[in-house]
Amino acid sequence: RFDHAIRPKRLEEYIGQPRVREQLEIFISAARRREESLDHTLVFGPPGLGKTTLANIIAEEMQVGLKSTSGPVLERAGDLAAMLTNLEPGDVLFIDEIHRLSPVVEEILYPAMEDFQLDIMIGEGPAARSIKLDLPRFTLVGATTRAGLLTSPLRDRFGIVQRLEFYNLEELTEIVRRSARLLEVEASEEGAIEVARRSRGTPRIANRLLRRVRDFAQVKGTGAIDAAIADAALNMLNVDHHGLDHMDRRLLLAMIEKFDGGPVGVDSLSAAIGEERDTIEDVIEPYLIQQGLMMRTARGRVVTRQAWQHFQLAPHEKALDTV
Ligand code: ADE
Repeated sequence: RFDHAIRPKRLEEYIGQPRVREQLEIFISAARRREESLDHTLVFGPPGLGKTTLANIIAEEMQVGLKSTSGPVLERAGDLAAMLTNLEPGDVLFIDEIHRLSPVVEEILYPAMEDFQLDIMIGEGPAARSIKLDLPRFTLVGATTRAGLLTSPLRDRFGIVQRLEFYNLEELTEIVRRSARLLEVEASEEGAIEVARRSRGTPRIANRLLRRVRDFAQVKGTGAIDAAIADAALNMLNVDHHGLDHMDRRLLLAMIEKFDGGPVGVDSLSAAIGEERDTIEDVIEPYLIQQGLMMRTARGRVVTRQAWQHFQLAPHEKALDTV
């Protein structure tokens, strides 16, 4: 994957998320004027909306280095200690999936974030000793799908918390146009809009679909992307006119056909479609909820009238009682 070629490097190139951009611009500019490192920053939101990109942009704008890791990779206290002692002053330490840190690793992170102190036990039993080391100042950028997945002591140690939202059609169209330019593929306005409309509000999906539509245009057309080529390519890729993919439709159809529209618990849905509960909650549902196709209620998940309409089905009378 040649993501680096189209990933924006500066805040100025970053499209969408206006509130995040406006706030980061101010906080980065203030930290730079004071010649300090930026406060620890938590970025949360569904996958593919630009959390990693923002971590890279923060490092670039602060003119510091970036070291990257992820929650599941840091298995033992020593793994995090190695990362922390490897930092240069001011560096950004990016921890993706930060909600998946083990409790022992999280314990090491608290004094590191708060006092830039490494506080670690070595050895075991009566010979065990605790050692303290001063760390350089650094900025922790943590990324997670939902802020609620973090323990509150960890969440409380971030001075800056930013939530990423799904992109609207205008923003996604601009991203598609920009990526098409960088990939040197000709796309008409309608072609770019068609790719954007069917990208689930998600730049990573827009960029992936753009590459596949480009392949299709090269082989089945003249190489240029217009609305008709985009539509044909996206139909072939099983992306429907609303931008729902195969998994989205499977989830909604299972709720309709097997559970009469709900309410149904997420574990029953997980069993019905053979997807992990986490994938349903973090990847599939957020967009369907944002689009008003389903809801989370106290009694479980329910589809809305629009979901029945999407599949050109008539809701059963009792099915919508809970909506
Ligand atoms: N590519 C992926 N996400 C982007 C964004 N938010 N702005 C510009 N280009 C992008």
